[in-house]
This record gives sequence, structure tokens and C-alpha cells, in this order.
Amino acid sequence: MLGCGLSPFSYGTNTSFVVYSQANALQVLHWWTSDSERKAVKVLSDRLVDENIEWRNAAIPGGAGVGASKVLKSRVLAGHAPEVTQLNGVVFGEWADLGLLLELDDVSRPGNWKKLLFPTVWSLVQNRDHVVAAPIGIQRINMLFYNKKIFDRLELIAPKTWADFDRVAFKLKQAGVVPLAQSSEAWQVATLFETLVLAESGPAFYRRLFVDMNAKAYADPRLAHALKRLRGLKQWMPMPLREQPWNEMTRQLADGDAAMFVMGDWVKGELRAWGKITDVDFGCSTVPGTDEYHLYSVDTLAMFAGDYSHQQAQEKLAQVLMSATVQTDYNQVKGSISVWRDPNKAKMDSCALASWRTFSKGGAFQAPSLVHRMATDETTKDAIVAEVRRYFMDDQITELDTQRRLAAIARSSPKIERPEE
Ligand code: GAL
Repeated sequence: MLGCGLSPFSYGTNTSFVVYSQANALQVLHWWTSDSERKAVKVLSDRLVDENIEWRNAAIPGGAGVGASKVLKSRVLAGHAPEVTQLNGVVFGEWADLGLLLELDDVSRPGNWKKLLFPTVWSLVQNRDHVVAAPIGIQRINMLFYNKKIFDRLELIAPKTWADFDRVAFKLKQAGVVPLAQSSEAWQVATLFETLVLAESGPAFYRRLFVDMNAKAYADPRLAHALKRLRGLKQWMPMPLREQPWNEMTRQLADGDAAMFVMGDWVKGELRAWGKITDVDFGCSTVPGTDEYHLYSVDTLAMFAGDYSHQQAQEKLAQVLMSATVQTDYNQVKGSISVWRDPNKAKMDSCALASWRTFSKGGAFQAPSLVHRMATDETTKDAIVAEVRRYFMDDQITELDTQRRLAAIARSSPKIERPEE
């Protein structure tokens, strides 16, 4: 059977009438649907055309892959796994243990991935001593973006502490500007929350909560404080909150409808896709109290083994993703940084360089994003995210209540190697 590059999901790529052999057509399930994300996908799919491989989009809208992960599960269970999927984080292990993923050692070994990659990324893509995913970029989550024109007009500078933040927000509100953009989508609320936990406690305590799932840690006053801060920030947000996608929130920041936005650095990719310039139209800072840390999410593509009929094309894709040009070009468009520990820095802006420098400091300064699947399994993550949102939306719920509920989730999480509590 022959496939031609005009699937209903195709956008902007492969529109010529090239006919690809079935073995060279790869359906890729992912959640990159915003303007910058589509541009980033085009970097990848264009590069594959040179290899005579077709990238067939199965793009499932929904920030942070909330929809995509559900679609993926049902497709796999129904026996219709795509050849390739965006599959971030610790969930690889679950899929790989079921024997579903193609091992990429024949690409990673000759490609010297172990040497090229940051150690954190290298260990992330391993399962039982095999490489089971190809990494593309590292996103930094603890970012605070601000509208530079508004800040300049009101003679404000990016807040470094929470006291600064409150002062800046107060002045913005006085000037009639919404200080902080925020959507009520659960994953976006939880994204803000995880940055607050990091600000409150640093990476070690953050890991006890979200990686070790140490139930006792949930009783810690630092967590209560982070929850209080989350609720306190509501005074600076547009009320009532609406459930808007992250790229619409980014639009509000760009248009000056809100002055600041806490979100991963894919926001930078989006602003740049709209022609906005770093340090001119928008400033790129970090959430107060987290400047020396890197709350990270690594985007990776995993390949389903199936009957191995696509193996060659899948391995080629893995090789292409790790190539120097794709690492530079894709990450520039996406707002992320390369997974290489020593990448080409020529095209990196101030924001990317700061991310790279911080990530390079190593594990003690890195925190794996809960919301973006770097810390724990999908179900536990979803349960925590839902609780955090409930607390945030309903002012009647106490911190203590939420701490107890979160501890119960931690206690029942399916983590196998649980450190001593
Ligand atoms: C993250 C992903 C990013 C970006 C973001 C918004 O999980 O790592 O690449 O797509 O979600 O959907």
C-alpha cells in the first residue's frame, strides 16, 4: 500500500505530490498545535523530506498533552499505535516494559549520545540499559515573562523576590493593567504551583514531594506556604478566571492585556513566531526565588516497535532529531534549548543562554516538572493536579485539607522503589 503526503492532519508540509513507500511514512502523534509548535514541527518534517521520509501529523490539541496522552492510550489498546509518539518523561518505562517501544541503541551508540547529551537527559531516555526515546529539547518551566513596553512605560523592572513581585503587581494594578495572566485550566494552575513549591523549598524538597512521593513531606509548612502563595496571587489575576489555552494567554501578554505570565519557555517560541523580539518586546525572567534552579521538561519522541516494518525510517528520524542542525533550528523556533550539553550557542538569545547555563550546573539545581511528566506517573500526576486546582478555585478549602489529600495520593501512588519515609 502506498501513502501520499496529504493526510487531513498535514499542515504546511509535504504538499508536493511525492509518493512515499508505506515503510517510509511515519505517523507522529503529538500535541504541538500552536503557531510556534507548528513551525517547530515543520523544521523536523522538512528535514525528513531530505531523507525521503514522510512525517504524518496526528496532532491532538491540548496544552501539556492532556488530550494526546488519552488518545495515545486508547489507540495503543485498540491496536492502532502510531509509529512515533511524543512521550515525555518517566512514562517511557511503563511502555517500554510492555515491550512496545523500539530500542534505539543502534542509533545512540554510533551517534555517541551518551557523550553528547546532558547526563539528566541521557538517564531519562534509558530503560533497563536501553535507549527507548529520542530527545529533542529542554524546556524551562520556572519562567516569568513580562511585557517590556509596559514595564518600561511604568519604569518597572522584573521582580527578583516576592516582595518585589507584590510591589510591581500593585503598581501595575494601579495603572489599570492586569498584573498576571492566568488561565484556570488545571495543568496551567498546577504549572504555576510547581514553580511556587520550587521557590519555597529548592529542588531537594521538591523531589521529596513529587519524585519520592514521600507522604510525610506533604505535612511540611513549606507546602502550606506555597499553597497560600498560589491563592494569594489571585488578587493579581483577571477575575473571573477563564479556561483558556496557554497560547491565548500568551496573546494577552503580547497585546498588553496582562503584564506578566508564568509559564514554560514555549511562550518565548510563540512570541517570536509572532515577530516579537526578546529583550525588546518582552522580557524573560524567572519566577522569584527560582533563578538558580531549572524546573525542566524534556520533549522526546518514542517509536512503537509494531512489526518492525518502519524500523529503518524510525531510526533515521531518531538520528535526525539528534543532529546538530535540527538541535539548533528546532530549539530556536520552539523556545527550548538543545539536549546537547555543549550545543552551538550562536543562535541562542539571552533567555536560552540563561536556561542552558542553569541546566549545566547539574542535578542539584534541576527539578523535574511534575505537570510535564518528568517526576512521576501519569495517574498520580493527574490526581495531584486536580487537587491543586480544586484548592485554587475554591477559597473554602484549607491548606491542611489539601495537604492531607495530597499525602493520600502520594501514599497510594504506584511507585515501586519508595525511599524510607
Ligand atoms: C509541554 C511540552 C512543550 C509544549 C507545552 C505546551 O508539555 O513539553 O513542548 O508543547 O507542553 O503544550
